[in-house]
Amino acid sequence: MKVTFLGHSTFSIQTGEKTVVLDPFVTPNQLANSIEVASIKADYVLLSHGHQDHLYDAETIARNNDAVVISSFEIASYYGAKGLKYHPMNTGGSKDFGEFKVKAVNAIHSSSLPDGMYAGNPMGFIISSGGKNIYYSGDTALTLDMQLIPLDFSIDTALLCMGDNFTMGPADALRAAGFVKTKKVIGMHFDTFPYILIDHASTIATFNNAGVELILPAIGQTIEI
Ligand code: NI
Ligand code: MN
Repeated sequence: MKVTFLGHSTFSIQTGEKTVVLDPFVTPNQLANSIEVASIKADYVLLSHGHQDHLYDAETIARNNDAVVISSFEIASYYGAKGLKYHPMNTGGSKDFGEFKVKAVNAIHSSSLPDGMYAGNPMGFIISSGGKNIYYSGDTALTLDMQLIPLDFSIDTALLCMGDNFTMGPADALRAAGFVKTKKVIGMHFDTFPYILIDHASTIATFNNAGVELILPAIGQTIEI
C-alpha cells in the first residue's frame, strides 16, 4: 500500500487499483494549501468520526469521484441521505471491499456531526491489503482495547494521533505502538492547530529510543507500506 499524507489526519491510501481517502480535512487546513481538493482521487472515503476536522471535504471528494463513504452507521446514513454511495459499519465489524479489507475498532473519543447530529461511536480502522495491515487510530485516547488488535493482525505500520489535548499525546502514542505491536508509526493529528503543536525532534527521539521508527510526515509525502 502507498500512503500519502494530506495534512492533519487525512491520508490517501493506494491499494492496488483502488484509492481510499481517510478523514479528509484539507480546505480549512492552512498547512495544506499545497493540496487541491478538486484533484484528490477516491474510490472510497473512510471516516473515523463526525468531527469537522475529519470530514470537512468528505462530501466534495465523494461527489467529485462518485466514491463510497464508509463510516459508522449514523455518519454513512447521513451521507446516503445526501444522495452519496455509502457503506455503514460499526465497531467490531469487518468488511471485504475486494482490493482491501476494513475492520472497525474501538476509539475512545466523542462523535457528533457539525450540525449537532448524533454520529454514533468514533472508530479506528485496520486496513488490510496485499498481505499488509495498517492500523489507523482515528481520534482516540490510549485504550487497553488496542491490545486486542495484534491477536488477529500483524500491524506493519500504525497511523497514530499524537497531538495531545484532544487525543493521545506522544507518550501515549508510543504505548499504543506497543499495544498493537508495531515498530513503525506515522504520526497524525499534530500541529494543525495551536492546541496540538508538538516538538518534532523530542517526539522522534522518544520513539527511536524505544526502538520504534516514527515518521512525522510532510504534507504530500508518500510512504510505501
Ligand atoms: Ni475528533
Ligand atoms: Mn480531531
